[in-house]
Amino acid sequence: MARPTTTYVCQSCGAQTRQFFGRCSSCGAWNSLVEQTAPASDTRRRRPVAADTAAASPRQPRRSEPIAAVGERPLQRLGSGYAELDRVLGGGLVPGSLVLLGGDPGIGKSTLLLQSAEAMATRCSVLYVSAEESAQQVKLRWRRLAEGADEAEGAAGAVAGARPGAPELSGLQLLAETDLELVLQELEALRPAVAVIDSIQALHDGELSSAPGSVAQVRECAAALARIAKRQDTALLLVGHVTKEGMLAGPKVLEHLVDAVLTFEGDRFASHRLLRAVKNRFGATHELGVFEMRGRGLAEVSNPSELFLGSEEPSAGTATIVACEGTRPLVVELQALVSTTSYASPRRTATGIGTNRLHQILAVLEKHLGLPLSRFDCYLAVAGGLEVEEPAADLGVAAAVVASYRDLTLPPGTVLIGELGLGGQLRPVGQLELRLQEAARLGFSRAVVPKGSGLARLAAGLDLQLLEAGGVAEALVAALGVNPADDRG
Ligand code: TYD
Ligand code: MG
Repeated sequence: MARPTTTYVCQSCGAQTRQFFGRCSSCGAWNSLVEQTAPASDTRRRRPVAADTAAASPRQPRRSEPIAAVGERPLQRLGSGYAELDRVLGGGLVPGSLVLLGGDPGIGKSTLLLQSAEAMATRCSVLYVSAEESAQQVKLRWRRLAEGADEAEGAAGAVAGARPGAPELSGLQLLAETDLELVLQELEALRPAVAVIDSIQALHDGELSSAPGSVAQVRECAAALARIAKRQDTALLLVGHVTKEGMLAGPKVLEHLVDAVLTFEGDRFASHRLLRAVKNRFGATHELGVFEMRGRGLAEVSNPSELFLGSEEPSAGTATIVACEGTRPLVVELQALVSTTSYASPRRTATGIGTNRLHQILAVLEKHLGLPLSRFDCYLAVAGGLEVEEPAADLGVAAAVVASYRDLTLPPGTVLIGELGLGGQLRPVGQLELRLQEAARLGFSRAVVPKGSGLARLAAGLDLQLLEAGGVAEALVAALGVNPADDRG
């Protein structure tokens, strides 16, 4: 009989060691090792679920077969009731798949899934397992959301099919439970087409000694749920929490297990919420869905560019770019403020764009346009609280900075697209066609883009004046109509 042993389990990647370290030797996370005492023999083998899995499908010897001969089943996707969620999922929920939805507390994960569950319950059987809130709390929220949907009915922007049925007729089943065993039993008894588990960290497997939310618990609970989901073709939506560092708790462990990982993010001070796919076995990643948190639930934003466009009045130091999120172009306004510094080293602050990126663009402008920007403070902000990571925003940042420095206003209706090289050259960017189409759709009439795009004909068809430039100086002259390098400092 083996002695119980003490192991240390990393709460970030699940790696195990016999010795305590301040830093996980496998993933490098600090202070993530937690002591766990477990009998050396693996008691988990004796789980009843595993046993009845074996009973349900008696093991037959499997032989390999030619891939061409493998029978195909058409992928039947289930609409989630929300076009924005479907887009991120790659066209809807796939039966038997596991989807993990992560996000900060209070961002609206429960709200999104409850709304979507309610919408789906009009077409198929849906079980909502609430492990965090009581049945009463969920019911209260559900009633509030149903009223919100009633109000939205008829209002512009309401989506067909998203409206939950009359509350009395709802087919949504609710279970407020944290015990994994009871949740599994209910899933087996009900055999729903879709089940929501809110949240995976709050579920608890009585056979494990560790606390709910620990890596061992999360892994066991998710694995048991995955087995049952595959067996009865139930699509599972799991809510996952984000740790202080912004990681999904037990991220590696869960990410391998599930078919798709979605993150729900947003600014605490803004009402819009962005839904992204980080991993998706059934669709493209980096797709973006946009929602707005209202008093009575989340509403879809089908035209997000309008959200990220600032005021109608053009002012000095603003420039408009077209960022691309997945296959989704977003027209976004940037604002820069350049003012004489009163510090020994000037201040550089950027909201929504990496500060390093800003430093680099300022250095390029200083070197290639001869602007003495190192004597000026520079602040940069992206409207609407959006994070723009793409280098395609570089030219827009440069134009906003130069416009603020020279107190110039860019001609209205101009968008700027292009990456800046360190040598001052303008580099081509991907998906230029999509970006130009979006700009034209929103009524922009001029686009400054890198040379050699080959899109002159497309632009002419879109009624868009295409200004191609090889370098940053040339691009800024084209955009501003004056040479920013004249009249130095
Ligand atoms: P919730 O879905 O509980 O967040 P999560 O499950 O991600 O922790 O959302 C809670 C927040 O959303 C809360 O701060 C209040 C806000 N909210 C609204 O503004 N309107 C609504 O209709 C609902 C249901 C919530
Ligand atoms: Mg919640």
